[in-house]
Amino acid sequence: MDLTKLRQSYINLFGDDHPSAYFAPGRINLIGEHTDYNGGHVFPCAITLGTYGIAQKRSDTTINVFSENFRDLGIISFDLNDLSYDKKDNWANFPKGMFHFLKEKGYSIDKGINIYIYGNIPNGAGLSSSASIELLTGVIADNLFHLNCDRIELVKTGKQVENNFIGVNSGIMDQFAVGMGQADHAILLDTNTLKYDLIPVKLNDHVIIIMNTNKRRELADSKYNERRSECEEALAALQTRLDIHSLGALDNDAFDQNTYLINKENLLKRARHAVSENQRTLKAKEALIHNDLLTFGKLINASHVSLKYDYEVTGKELDTLVETAWQEEGVLGARMTGAGFGGCAIALVEKSHVDAFTKHVGQVYEEKIGYAPSFYIAEIADGAKRLAE
Ligand code: GLA
Repeated sequence: MDLTKLRQSYINLFGDDHPSAYFAPGRINLIGEHTDYNGGHVFPCAITLGTYGIAQKRSDTTINVFSENFRDLGIISFDLNDLSYDKKDNWANFPKGMFHFLKEKGYSIDKGINIYIYGNIPNGAGLSSSASIELLTGVIADNLFHLNCDRIELVKTGKQVENNFIGVNSGIMDQFAVGMGQADHAILLDTNTLKYDLIPVKLNDHVIIIMNTNKRRELADSKYNERRSECEEALAALQTRLDIHSLGALDNDAFDQNTYLINKENLLKRARHAVSENQRTLKAKEALIHNDLLTFGKLINASHVSLKYDYEVTGKELDTLVETAWQEEGVLGARMTGAGFGGCAIALVEKSHVDAFTKHVGQVYEEKIGYAPSFYIAEIADGAKRLAE
């Protein structure tokens, strides 16, 4: 990333000349999908694809945001004293929501700000571009206004923006990964307690390839909210006899012994995924710690199967990428990552096979789906931060 150029673009647009630079990553989730709103574990990492922001305080109360990714929308402006959601503010509702909730929490933000943004996370690919903008805004506000805001507080504020400003009923995984990531580590997070461990990701001769379906994630939000309420319904059925607060409280055996309480096919499948995925995530953490990449890969595959048949959030594009990947030489595992319904998958691929892998998986996908996927090598990055001058 050419920060000098980005700084110059900021200066050309806004005039003032001592802005600071910030970065917030995107994320992939290694395993633990659709478990974060079920009190289970997730295992994401922050990646080097992310959002850059150049920012400076103003002397009035106007907040100006501009994104190179949405050039045609120009500078979007709002006032510190009116931070309500407004559809016409488009993507700027993410930063706006952050200012809204930070102010509501009593943080003293008394001046406006100019923010110039450029992101290299593919748009709508399920790599958390929105959490990235949220945490970027949080880090900028924290730094420029000396808020001394605890990082977990910023993470929670990002989730609040999704849930109560944008209207997506998401869990905390994305904001947590983007806010708390550490280079070369994955975060094993217990979403029930927010306790976490940073686990070194040592892949030996392997890399993680991100495979983008390039499918627009239509209906993703409504389907997401639907899955979430199905899990709530299943939990309520279990709670008629069990003293539990989330599906994550059960292991596979305990769940099996109580499925009669649910006794509805779709709810059973959703809950079975939430329970089994949580168990797989804990096993995957152990496998990674013990450098057992074979087992790790098998758990990743099993996660996809469960997301396909039990949770039903994959779709033919993700299935084609993942199932083709499974057949390739040098592949230890592959699965969808993120919410599903399009977006991205990941594959654990031996370095010497990467070229053949992307070529062949790309060909098969294009033949079956009608357009090409994209591939990126995932590098695991630090969480959101101010960049050195
Ligand atoms: C989206 C949500 C997360 C999580 C995943 C599925 O990324 O934002 O909170 O639920 O889907 O694991």
